[in-house]
Amino acid sequence: MTIGSAAGKIILFGEHAVVYGRPALAVPLTDLRARVRVETTGQNGIIIHAKDIGESFLLATAPSDNGLAAITRATLRELAVSPSDGLELWIESDIPLASGLGSGAAVSTAIVRALSEHFHNPLSPEQVSALVFETEKLYHGTPSGIDNTVIALERPIRFEHGAGPRPIQIARPFRLIIAYTGIASPTRVTVGDVRQGWERDPKRYEELFDQVARVVEQSQVALERGANKELGPLMNRNQELLEKLGVSSVAIESLRRLAKQAGAGGSKLSGGGRGGNVIVYPGEGNEDEIEDALIAAGAARVITTSIKSA
Ligand code: PMV
Repeated sequence: MTIGSAAGKIILFGEHAVVYGRPALAVPLTDLRARVRVETTGQNGIIIHAKDIGESFLLATAPSDNGLAAITRATLRELAVSPSDGLELWIESDIPLASGLGSGAAVSTAIVRALSEHFHNPLSPEQVSALVFETEKLYHGTPSGIDNTVIALERPIRFEHGAGPRPIQIARPFRLIIAYTGIASPTRVTVGDVRQGWERDPKRYEELFDQVARVVEQSQVALERGANKELGPLMNRNQELLEKLGVSSVAIESLRRLAKQAGAGGSKLSGGGRGGNVIVYPGEGNEDEIEDALIAAGAARVITTSIKSA
């Protein structure tokens, strides 16, 4: 029996603009994990059990757009194995599904890690990331690659197309409150809407992306220098730009407003937007009061975590 696991993730700054070649910053959520156990059964066929979505199926009969089947097939191909004595893959995850915390990429990464361990064939983080990226396309259409990269490396990164991921050092760890709006908003849809806007008015969108890029640069400097008190205002600024890109929503703004009234230092949506998560930098505010305010404002779930380097 072998086990593979992978962390969730959250985007701190730069979502959407990252699809257009600008940088973004993302961090792993190491306390929230997906785990996969691989067992040899001695019987023919590979069975995948996905507890969280209540599914068990035979790999051979799964359609090609099934993400769990796709990553399993791609990994077996990469490892150049075709197991004849049968396998079972047991998947479980603490990462809430479809809410911008990287659950899909983390489950895929855990599958790759568990299988490569099972067949004694270690893969580099780059190989893991490349395999998972192919499956992310099934979920997201045109993903930037940020999710699979931060999850495969499992450390805070600056991600930028063409430049490769760069680890970033978080000089002073900080607390982050992640509030789920309760609204599942497919990233594929918001990414598509931003694309339509960009096609209609490329000049305006390119300018907005450039402004996001400047916020990302400033945020990276703040994180690396430990100038944490700048993070709240930088989140607010990034949020203003996301709103102009058309990916905020009433639910997001009401969580942000109540968090601010409870003393939070700043906040923004994280990921695709419209629904999904709001991240709140508590700053000088009292964490418990901010959490209570977020729940009173209708947050479906609130997670508080520490963000630190590796
Ligand atoms: O919804 P998430 O957390 O998977 O993030 C999407 C981030 C986008 O920049 C909107 C899209 C992407 O592929 O980078």
